[in-house]
Amino acid sequence: MTNRPVPPLFVAGTDTGVGKTFVSACLMHIADAHYWKPFQTGPDDDTRMVHRLSGCSASRMLRPFVSLAAPLAPLHAAEREGFVFDPADVIPPSHPFLVIEGAGGIMVPLAPHVLTLDLMVRWRVRVLLVARSTLGTLNHTLLTLRALKDSGLSCLGVVMVGPPAPHNVNAIEDFGGVPVLATIPFDESGDLRGAVKAAAPALKPALELWGCPLAGGEDPASF
Ligand SMILES: Nc1ncnc2c1ncn2[C@@H]1O[C@H](COP(=O)(O)OP(=O)(O)O)[C@@H](O)[C@H]1O
Ligand SMILES: [Mg+2]
Repeated sequence: MTNRPVPPLFVAGTDTGVGKTFVSACLMHIADAHYWKPFQTGPDDDTRMVHRLSGCSASRMLRPFVSLAAPLAPLHAAEREGFVFDPADVIPPSHPFLVIEGAGGIMVPLAPHVLTLDLMVRWRVRVLLVARSTLGTLNHTLLTLRALKDSGLSCLGVVMVGPPAPHNVNAIEDFGGVPVLATIPFDESGDLRGAVKAAAPALKPALELWGCPLAGGEDPASF
């Protein structure tokens, strides 16, 4: 019997600012996985944020392939710094369970003629799609799901962030053909660590579909 490696889980978004980092922190709070944000642009440091919010050990946080100062798509942020990278050089670290957070949405340019989606296909990822729950999400979400399907990528499901919107859940499941695995409320208390802890158990179905074990030594009942 051969032990096939489990494909990485790519946390994709319908847009920037939809909650990919928050959802990644929820995953890292409960999963026995490593986190990798290959393309970091702008002042945010998603790796640091996921580390802080998830409370997981530093050894499970991997360094980005590149961190670029300008808050732009990686192609343009790299051009600002006078270089172009070769996507062939960007190789996911080999860990049994790797959570990869994308930069923006899946059609974001990384290099000349190379979109995020192209690397997702090359890396043969499984996808968890993060979307807003609010008005406007159907178009973005269904377009993204269509593009993933046309590229032959398997989307495990959608995680919605924001107030519950059952009509949008139904429409995504009906028209998109994938389950909405969770709706995570937007926490207004300012306690983001507490919000991650409260929301993380809702991501268990996503981990089950991916085949990733829960974080070692942690008692699932304590989440
Ligand atoms: N469930 C939530 N409750 C409260 N704040 C959230 C939640 N999800 C995301 N945020 C906040 O919304 C902003 C965008 O979320 P983030 O996860 O960074 O999005 P992305 O990674 O898609 O750009 C951040 O300031 C983040 O702290
Ligand atoms: Mg992010």
